Amino acid sequence: MLLLKELLMSTMNIKSMRKNKKGLLLCIISACLLQGHIAISQKTSKTPIMGWMSWNLCRENVNEKIIKDIADALVATGLKKAGYTLISIDDGWVGGRDMQNNLIANPEKFPNGMKALAEYVHSKGLKLGIYSSASQTTCLDLTGSYGFEQQDANRFADWGIDYLKYDWCGNVPENNPEELRIRNEAMSKAIANTKAPFAFAFWGGFSPEYWVRSLGNNWRIAYDIRDVWKSYHPQRKGILQAYEACIQLDKLAGPYGFNDPDMLVVGLYGTGKAGSAEGHTGGCTDIEYQTQMSLWCLMASPLFLSADIAKLNQTSLNILKNKEMISINQDTLCRQARRIIETNMYDVLIKPLADGDYALGLLNKSDDIIDVSLPFNSIGLIGDFMVKDVWRQRNSTSHLKSWKGEVMAHETVVLRLSKPVNRKKQSTVR
Ligand code: GAL
Repeated sequence: MLLLKELLMSTMNIKSMRKNKKGLLLCIISACLLQGHIAISQKTSKTPIMGWMSWNLCRENVNEKIIKDIADALVATGLKKAGYTLISIDDGWVGGRDMQNNLIANPEKFPNGMKALAEYVHSKGLKLGIYSSASQTTCLDLTGSYGFEQQDANRFADWGIDYLKYDWCGNVPENNPEELRIRNEAMSKAIANTKAPFAFAFWGGFSPEYWVRSLGNNWRIAYDIRDVWKSYHPQRKGILQAYEACIQLDKLAGPYGFNDPDMLVVGLYGTGKAGSAEGHTGGCTDIEYQTQMSLWCLMASPLFLSADIAKLNQTSLNILKNKEMISINQDTLCRQARRIIETNMYDVLIKPLADGDYALGLLNKSDDIIDVSLPFNSIGLIGDFMVKDVWRQRNSTSHLKSWKGEVMAHETVVLRLSKPVNRKKQSTVR
């Protein structure tokens, strides 16, 4: 019942529902139907999943040693402690099927097999994820799971896998949302049947429909991200473009289900095999990496690191481990930020938080410094607030009704606005 209430809160405008009783009834009916659907998927993580994913750094060259090294480095750098606890092996691990049609790991890359690797990863207090596709083959033309959903889900559960990234690649019917739903649902059900608590992530399409919420923990909403601010490749996204695709889908996100604009490229600096494929430029600037972290946290998106953890410099580690940014991402209200102001130069985003605070994002999309003067009542935040600049770690010394300051090119300023203590109450913003 709690879940039902959370879903209602997260997806509907309660104020307008009160005004419109017919709307309220429809909302309750659809939430109940949804509740029925929920039974088929694994609801393992109320807040966005945090971890590391192999694709951007390794492409097809992922192997057992890399995964073990990443596990060790997540612990050594303190990233595990900061919340990044899942290691997800992407495309490139599978070695086909055995005589009983069971999936096998490529024995050259994973000589000790997946079960032993899962045990190693678990021994570090981390979780292990794996990759497959809703077709006969993956993007790398390796074996996929279509037609073998239950057998493969059982295999993953037997290995102790905690997360499945299920792609829409290989021989799949493009532009067919119904087939997309059917194939994803088949794997979501198969996972639920195993009774093992592993999470499901999948391709949700370019404009995902509400059914995605019932199937898994997060769904990709756009083409692959690249280690660039803007991509000129028609099927790739830079940070700004992945954000643009995701910010429009704020109503879909809520507890146990989040829009996924793809991995964090923070710290790649042009060194990734896939993530930096267009990155002859050396990747992004630190300001752009900080913006990616800000936006992904504000949008309640999964946080998957993709650089070589052991080689991350202190600046990247500071960006990725910022406690207050992570707490905004992991906030238990589970709202995705809504875009309140959109201009050619900048966007203003608001994410309401569980304790009544608001996280405010000021994104400078332009290539110049801008001066911003933002009265809070112009974005529906009435009254005065204590203001904390999250990145600069600066607190206001008195209650403020507005914020003024410079925002660097491609920078995102993140402010946490708190009501004076005994007046904490959600105001008019959704
Ligand atoms: C793409 C997917 C990438 C990666 C790749 C592996 O479809 O978007 O994130 O998983 O397949 O082949």
